[in-house]
Amino acid sequence: MVYTIGIDLGGTKIATAVVDENGDVIAHLEVPTHAKEGPQAVLDRMAETAKRVAQAVPSIQPMAVGVGAPGPLNPKRGIVFGPPNLPGWDHVNLVDELQQRLGLHVVIDNDANAATLAEATLGAGRGYHNLVYITVSTGIGGGVMLDGKVRQGEFGCAAEIGHHIVDINGPLCHCGNRGCLETFASGTAIERTALERMGEPLNASRVALLAREKNVIAQQILDDVYRYLGAGLVNVINLFDPAVIIIGGGVAQIGRPMFEALQQVVNNNHFRSSVGENVQVVPAQLGTKAGVIGAALLPR
Ligand code: BGC
Ligand code: NA
Ligand code: ZN
Repeated sequence: MVYTIGIDLGGTKIATAVVDENGDVIAHLEVPTHAKEGPQAVLDRMAETAKRVAQAVPSIQPMAVGVGAPGPLNPKRGIVFGPPNLPGWDHVNLVDELQQRLGLHVVIDNDANAATLAEATLGAGRGYHNLVYITVSTGIGGGVMLDGKVRQGEFGCAAEIGHHIVDINGPLCHCGNRGCLETFASGTAIERTALERMGEPLNASRVALLAREKNVIAQQILDDVYRYLGAGLVNVINLFDPAVIIIGGGVAQIGRPMFEALQQVVNNNHFRSSVGENVQVVPAQLGTKAGVIGAALLPR
């Protein structure tokens, strides 16, 4: 059996896992990113967490490390260019930095591309050749599989769904543009809107809980999120014509009400639906572990 370590580097937390060649998680460990401390501290924390997760299963010798990181990044060169949600990361060679710290072969890809690979091979995308995966978390990420391959694009930045513009006059995004989907429908956007409308920066699961208890403002916040996210899905469906759209990430934990609302927007608006061919919007089966499992699959 061959084992690898997966690291999912998020703006909020670092998830690590030892994964076997079937994609089964043998050990799992999560720590907060403390992204504000900057790249060197975060790289140290990634390496230390990877070592700790490997030590949890001392009988196993992991062969390589795969990292899923927020873009923009260049997987071929191993460089992370300054992702919106990781302050201070400007042209950091993540591959070199981690190889030095761990003494193991390291490969990287976009976090959402890694999760796409995991869902396509082991999760909700099994059996499909054309699919889109979207993660709704601190940011919004995406991955597109066409004809059985996760597409990288020229630079590794294909399918940056969170930064497609849904309102040219919208709020300023970390990336420098206005009105990116991420500014309306990410976990960060929900907290910002809750602060504006409810006086408290409540996270997505708190807002969802209040909505279930019939809090009108909480419900309006979520309705807006579903409208923008739904529009984003329609755009993406019209571009790539997938069989299925899979949604993961922390915000997708809202579950049924979110998926019903999104399915409705999709059914009513996407181009293919006019000929009666709907696209299913389904939850990620690997849940919040899709990213870390996909990262572990990268070195294969
Ligand atoms: C980044 C994406 C990433 C997503 C989720 C976005 O802000 O641009 O590359 O996949 O956040 O982490
Ligand atoms: Na991507
Ligand atoms: Zn943006």
